[in-house]
Parts: sequence; structure tokens; C-alpha cells
Amino acid sequence: MTNDRGSWGSRPGFILAATGSAVGLGNIWGFPTQVGQGGGAAFVLIYLIAVIFICAPILLGEVLVGRYAQLGPAGAVRRISPSGPWWVIGLLAVAAGTFILSFYAVIAGWTVQYLWLAVTDGLAADAEGSGALFGAVSANPIRNVLFTGLFLVATAWCVNRGIRRGIEAASRLMMPLLFVLLLILAIRSVTLPGAAEGLAYYLRPDLSQALNPEIIGAAVGQAFFSLSLGMGALITYGSYLHRSHAVRSASIAIVGIDTTIALLAGFIIFPAGFSIASFSSGSTFDPTAGGPGLIFAVLPQLFATLPGGLLFGAAFFLLLSVAAFTSTISLLEVPVAHAIDQWRWPRSKAVLAVAAFTFAFSIPSVLSFSGGFFSELPAVGGTFFDLMVNVWNEGALPLGGMLISLFIGWRWGARFAGDELRRDGPGFPSPALWGFLIRFVSPAAIFLLIVSRFVL
Ligand code: TRP
Repeated sequence: MTNDRGSWGSRPGFILAATGSAVGLGNIWGFPTQVGQGGGAAFVLIYLIAVIFICAPILLGEVLVGRYAQLGPAGAVRRISPSGPWWVIGLLAVAAGTFILSFYAVIAGWTVQYLWLAVTDGLAADAEGSGALFGAVSANPIRNVLFTGLFLVATAWCVNRGIRRGIEAASRLMMPLLFVLLLILAIRSVTLPGAAEGLAYYLRPDLSQALNPEIIGAAVGQAFFSLSLGMGALITYGSYLHRSHAVRSASIAIVGIDTTIALLAGFIIFPAGFSIASFSSGSTFDPTAGGPGLIFAVLPQLFATLPGGLLFGAAFFLLLSVAAFTSTISLLEVPVAHAIDQWRWPRSKAVLAVAAFTFAFSIPSVLSFSGGFFSELPAVGGTFFDLMVNVWNEGALPLGGMLISLFIGWRWGARFAGDELRRDGPGFPSPALWGFLIRFVSPAAIFLLIVSRFVL
């Protein structure tokens, strides 16, 4: 099977693919949505702290383990620790990849429908509306099952084909374009009249909010999700690296780009939301109200303020769909690689089985938005979709990240892990600093978080 595994041709190829995995709906849809739910700037502050002190060390660790073992999460764990309870990391990885994909593909389906609407002039209908269009789009079960299914078929097709050529080429072109477009939109947004209120909401933290365990939990979960951490996606991608490829600067680049794009998305949504609400309807903007529809409600209004706005809209949703696509590929690749490596399945069988299961499981997430049973689950008092986000983003990924950091810091051990890092030569972070973060800071922070949320 080692022939099937392949490897990145170059370090930039790896950086590109890993950045493609990290940058996605989590940055542009998820981050502003979570900031809105989490009360604004306090959430942003905790998010940044989580990225730097908890997540960045784990990201470097995942890539190092993958490069060292040249295997995906389950295989890498077994290689370093043939016995013991660490195999749960592999189990968690397969489950998280599959289930996150099942609801991620639903949102990806919305972005494709918005692309279609932008091209056919349908976005103009919502230029001054307040999310009516999003309500109509998300509540149509048949159409959403269809678009979710289409997105999964496209992902499966690509993963089945072997991902390197198509995806690398597409991301190389699309990622810089996405960045430029986001920058233009952010500049437009912050220069709208009344944008200051949005900037204050986004940048001036209310510190009494910052100590709320709910918000801390959501921010840490969002940081893991956005960086594709906690389920071995980066172990898998790291395993395709040549052992001579340095990973330190690559990891810093991935974290930096991903965080910059999430922050940019906030600079687009909040100033625009506050500004447009104040001059179009005289009402105030409530960032919590939109829920998952926040960006879908605000963006069409922002496009309408730009000359040639619908063209911007079309370009934006095209690039967002591509960003989502490079992420769904990495989500599907983890369980597929597992079935190939551990169960010796042919790639096509693995792709078909995982994609079919994921599709079936995506249906209750679709139905979460059209009223009825799944939009008001009796036991949880929320939608099935919310339940999935809570369990996987806020639960499984931080838990997986904690186990991975304990595994690296204590089972693999600071000395061996440090030796692997030393292969890169001197640089930042030093093995001593990184070892300290991954042995103590990351796992302790996550542990305290879990205790404060579920036990206290
Ligand atoms: N990071 C991606 C985003 O922000 C989503 C994603 C892709 C992901 N692969 C992952 C999340 C692996 C967790 C684990 O949109």
C-alpha cells in the first residue's frame, strides 16, 4: 500500500494542501457566526489566545508525528505505541472526519446555491432583505439534499482520483484570488458609513464576557476546527512529507494564513452588518439573530453597495465553494486513508463506503432547517445540526487534540519528539519551548476547559 500513499513533490505543495484544508467554511462562515453567537470581541480575544498557546503547538506536533511515522493517525499511533489505550486517537479521527463532513457538506451546498443565485441575479432579491433569502434556501429539503449530495459526489470523485494534481493546481490559483477578494470586501465594509459600531463590536472586548466557560469552549472548539486539528488530518498530510522537509516554518505559515483569513471575514461581516442595518432600515443589527444564516444575510446586502456587486457576489461564492472543497477533501481523506491503510480496502471501495454513509447522515442536518423533528430535537432543545456542531467541534476535536498532545508529549516523549523537531535545524519554536507547550500548556488548558464545562 505504500505505493498508493504518494508524497508531496515539494514543501510548498504541502503548505498549499494543508492551508487548503485549514481555510474553508470554518473561517468565512463559521468564525463570524461564532463571534456573533459569542458576544463579539471577547470571543475574538479568546480565539487568538487559543490559536497561539493551545493549537499552534498541536498543529506542529501533528505534522511532526505524521512526518516521522509516514502513516495516518491510527498507524502512526500504533507505530509509536504498539499497545496501550492510544488507539482511541485513530478511532476518534475516523469518526470526526466522517461526521464533520456530513454537516460541512450541507453548508457547502448552500454556498453553491448562492453561487447559482449570484449568477442568475437571484441575490438582488435579498439586497435589502434581512435573511429572507437564506430562510428560503435553507428550508428547502429536496434541493439541499441534492446540493449536499452533489458536493459529496464531487469530493468523492476527487479523493478517488488521487488529489494532487487537480486540487493543488486549483488551490494555487484560487487561494490568492480568494484572499484578494476578501481584502477588497473588507476595505469596502470598514469604509461604509456607520461601520465604526461594527468595528467596536468586533474589536473592543467586554472582559466580563471573556470568562464565560461557554464562550471559551466555543472559541477553543472553533480554533481547532478552523485549523483542521484534533482528528489527525495534519498527521495524514504530514505523512506525505519527505522526512527531509522542514515543518516549523510551514506550520507557522498555515496558522498565520488561516487566522488572517478568519479575521478578515470578521472585518467584512460586522462593519457591513451594523452599517447597512442603520442606513437601510433604521434598526440596529443583531449579530446573534442570524445564526448560521449570518453571512448569507449580510453579504448580499454588501455586494449591493458595490458597483458590479453581483459579479463580486458570484466570484465570492465561487471561491468560497472552492475553499470548502479543499476542506471536504481533507475530511474525506482521513477515514478513506484509514480504510486503505488499516483494513486494506481498495481506495475506490473506501471512498464509496464513507461517502455513502456520510450522505445518509447528512440528511438530518439538512432537515434541521426545514422545520419538524430535526429542527427541534426534544432531548437537546436545538437542531440536529447544532447538536452535531457541539459534539464534534466543541467536544471531539478538543478532546482529540488533548489526547494527541499527551501522546506526543508523554508517550512519544519530549526527547524523541524534540529530536524529530531538531532535524529542521535551529529555529522558532525551539524544541524546549515547544516541548513545554505540548506537554503542559495545551493539555492542561483543554483539560480545565472540559472540567469547567461539563463537570462544574
Ligand atoms: N478547517 C476547515 C475549515 O475551517 C474544516 C476542516 C477540514 C476540518 N478538515 C478538517 C476541521 C479536519 C477539523 C478537522 O473550514
